[in-house]
Parts: sequence; C-alpha cells; structure tokens
Amino acid sequence: MSVRRLAEDSVQPTSFAFSEENAAWAKKRIALYPEGRQQSAVIPLLMRAQEQDGWVTRATIETVAGMLDMPYIRVLEVATFYTQFQLQPVGTRAHIQVCGTTPCMLRGAEDIRAVCQKHIHAEPHHLNADGTMSWEEVECAGACVNAPMVTIGFDTYEDLTTERFEEILLAFRDGKGDTIKPGPQIDRQFSAAQSGRTTLLADVEHIEHEHVDNGPVDPPKKATRPGRKREVDDEAAPGIKGPSPEGKVSSERAEAEENEAGGPARAKPDQTMREGATGGESPAEEPTKARSKPAARKPATRKSKE
Ligand code: FES
Repeated sequence: MSVRRLAEDSVQPTSFAFSEENAAWAKKRIALYPEGRQQSAVIPLLMRAQEQDGWVTRATIETVAGMLDMPYIRVLEVATFYTQFQLQPVGTRAHIQVCGTTPCMLRGAEDIRAVCQKHIHAEPHHLNADGTMSWEEVECAGACVNAPMVTIGFDTYEDLTTERFEEILLAFRDGKGDTIKPGPQIDRQFSAAQSGRTTLLADVEHIEHEHVDNGPVDPPKKATRPGRKREVDDEAAPGIKGPSPEGKVSSERAEAEENEAGGPARAKPDQTMREGATGGESPAEEPTKARSKPAARKPATRKSKE
C-alpha cells in the first residue's frame, strides 16, 4: 500500500469553497450533531468536498477545519487515514482502486494492476495522457469472496479476469462506464456459490402442495421446565422430553407379554442362565429342567404415569 500524503504543491489549488448547494447541505449536516459535537461532521464534509472537486486538497482540509472549529492536523489525520479520500488529482472519468490484499492477490490482482499500468500509467496516482483515468492499489474492499475486484466511484466490479477488466477500463476511458453493470462479472448472484446453490435445495412449491394435500401440520407440543413458568418447545429442549407416546406400554400389557413369552424375564440368575454363575443366587436346577429358552428380552418399557 502506498504512503498517503498530500499532493505536490504544484497541483494544489490556492483555495476551496463549497458550491452554494453544497454549502447549504453542509450547514444542515453540521446542525444534526449536538452542541459541541459538530466535529463529528468531518467525514461527511470531506466526502462532499471530494464529490464536488474529485479529490481532497490542502485548501479543502483547511476550509473544513475552519467550518468545524478543528485544528488542521486533526482533519489531515482523517483525510490521510481513509483510502476513500483521494489526496491527488484523479481522472475525470474514473479513478480505479485495485484491491491488493491477500485473497485478491491470490486470485490475480497483479494481472489487474498490470492492465492499469498498461492503459493508464506505470505508477499509481498518476493521470493518463488526457487526464481521464487514474489508478491506485488499496487494501481489502470487503468483496473477497468475489476476488479479484476493483472499486470505481461508488461501485465495485468483481470476479474479474484480465480480459473482462480491460473491457471495463476501456469503457470508462471512452466515457461509457455507465454501460457496465457493477457487481460480479460472471454468472453468479452476489457472492453465492459460483457452482450454484448448495443448500436449501428442496422444491418449495412441492412442499407447499404436500402441506395442502396432507392437511395442516400440528403445532409443536409445549413442555414446561420444572420451576419455570416459560413454556419450552420439545424440540428446543430435548433434555426434558418425555417418552414418545408410541414407546409407552402399560405395566399390565408388559406383564402379559412376559408371561406369554415363558415367564418373567426378571428371574434371578442361576447357572443355567449365566456361564460361571455360582448358583448361590437361586436354587440350582437340572440343566434339562432349565427353561427351554430364556424369556425374550423386551424392549425397554416404562411404567405409564397413570
Ligand atoms: S481481499 Fe480484495 S476485496 Fe477483500
């Protein structure tokens, strides 16, 4: 990133004044802030001055400092900190800011910069021969997903290839910049995945029809956490979920099923039931008299609360 300094004295105008319209706007803007906080208008005023003249001159900084009753150095600090403020004369048709931060650099920012050097000037902050174009390298402009990208005026041009950027640059140089659509220069919506949608793939129309065919869906059951008044959805609080209604079996039914299967499955263990058992737990039986087969284990059942 280049050092941000004011332009050479040779190109600095001797004075600055807001146009009548902009002066009225500035007055209203300053009045928006509470008494004693008028200095907060420094950025809007500098930006308005830049929109008027194309760049921020030393005279602009002095004038804004006077309007806001600020020391000159304080306004200079703001103007030199933000790359949105141009401190050198810029092209009358376009000033191109090439993002040179890592994601853009990895995706070809150097080639984009080379196009600027070819068509505008070898050095940043220099005008082309007829004064219509200029360029500079800046830090991340926040469109990294669509790298590489450039900013021209208030718009960004993203997903650039060398060829596409050359077309854009030449269009601006020829005064046809308004024919170029800002944003991604490939077939993608904003910063959505380049290969198309990867989530939320269900056919929404299909779901709506299904809902109509099957009738409305029951609202989720509510549960109340002990000691709390607030109602909590079962889905939102799985830890307090009770057994599902399908899983509930009455104790009578469970007992009947056990008897049907050859006796209670809760019999005490003995030698016939567990290899290595001492038999002390229950009277030993002749192996032949052992149950033909142990009672089938039933799925875990819970006692009905009733
Ligand atoms: S790195 Fe270029 S836009 Fe963020």
